[in-house]
Amino acid sequence: DWTPDSFVEETVEAIQEKVGNDKVVLGLSGGVDSTVAAVLLNKAIGGNLYCIFVNNGLLRKNEFESVLNQYEGMGLNVKGVDASQRFLEALKGLEDPELKRKAIGKTFIEVFDDEAHKLTDVKWLAQGTIYPDVIESVSATGGPSATIKSHHNVGGLPDFMKLKIVEPLRAIFKDEVRRVGATLGIDPELLGRHPFPGPGLGIRILGDITAEKVRILQEVDAIFINGLKSWGLYDKVWQAGAMLLPVNSVGVMGDERTYEKCVALRAVESTDGMTADWVNLPYEFLQKTSNEIINKVKGVNRVVYDISSKPPATIEWE
Ligand code: XMP
Repeated sequence: DWTPDSFVEETVEAIQEKVGNDKVVLGLSGGVDSTVAAVLLNKAIGGNLYCIFVNNGLLRKNEFESVLNQYEGMGLNVKGVDASQRFLEALKGLEDPELKRKAIGKTFIEVFDDEAHKLTDVKWLAQGTIYPDVIESVSATGGPSATIKSHHNVGGLPDFMKLKIVEPLRAIFKDEVRRVGATLGIDPELLGRHPFPGPGLGIRILGDITAEKVRILQEVDAIFINGLKSWGLYDKVWQAGAMLLPVNSVGVMGDERTYEKCVALRAVESTDGMTADWVNLPYEFLQKTSNEIINKVKGVNRVVYDISSKPPATIEWE
């Protein structure tokens, strides 16, 4: 019978047998899958695992610093690479969602490849691929592995992709990954995190991306997500986030007319992201959240709540 403990035991042995004394490189995303994969590999091969955590500048507010700290606290051999500027440059002027995804994916690969080159004698690339990623052509789980897969047919293969692949979670589902993570002693808060797309806030800022828009959306998102947590709603929602719309609308503040940004909040229930229903969040919560966003986030004067289900409305707006 499948139990997380027996899975850990067998997988650790299998990894040791497979990679021996070779060095392994792995891209951490802050998400559940890559984290659990890293902790498993760390248990199996310790210092021969080299983790790389790239800040694409499109993560949630303070996420890069806090998750990097958390990884270090877990004893992982991790290098944080802040490539925010490089991503912003690559995205400059791009408005089309697919072009933005491509630019983000390509930049991620370049940054990761640069870092992988600094390590000598690496033989393996580890990925947090889980079973649903294997059966679907496009991963819905986010993270570096998804980015790599959807872009590895663009141009020539970067060197790190010529490495041999080790995917310890390849045969299991998300709920099993969470149970394995719990057995490994990973912080329940990290294991309970909502899915977050690989391109991050880049596909929640509709149209072109600037540093200022990222800052605005990070503030809005943090108010929304922290609110869900403090109201005990976070774990009842499968995924939540905010979208920065490419329209300004008129508002009044005192005697002044404002002409500022509108944000849309989205919270959905789902099991796998393939279909999703919008969540009936309490009016009082929406009211408080909207007030807080408008009062605290400069540049935003209107908040709307997305009441569309998937299909046809995808979870992300781009
Ligand atoms: P949609 O918007 O298609 O999203 O309803 C379904 C799930 O997939 C995530 N998503 C992505 N994940 N790269 C990713 O790694 C992407 O380009 C991407 N687009 C959407 C989305 O957050 C949701 O969980």
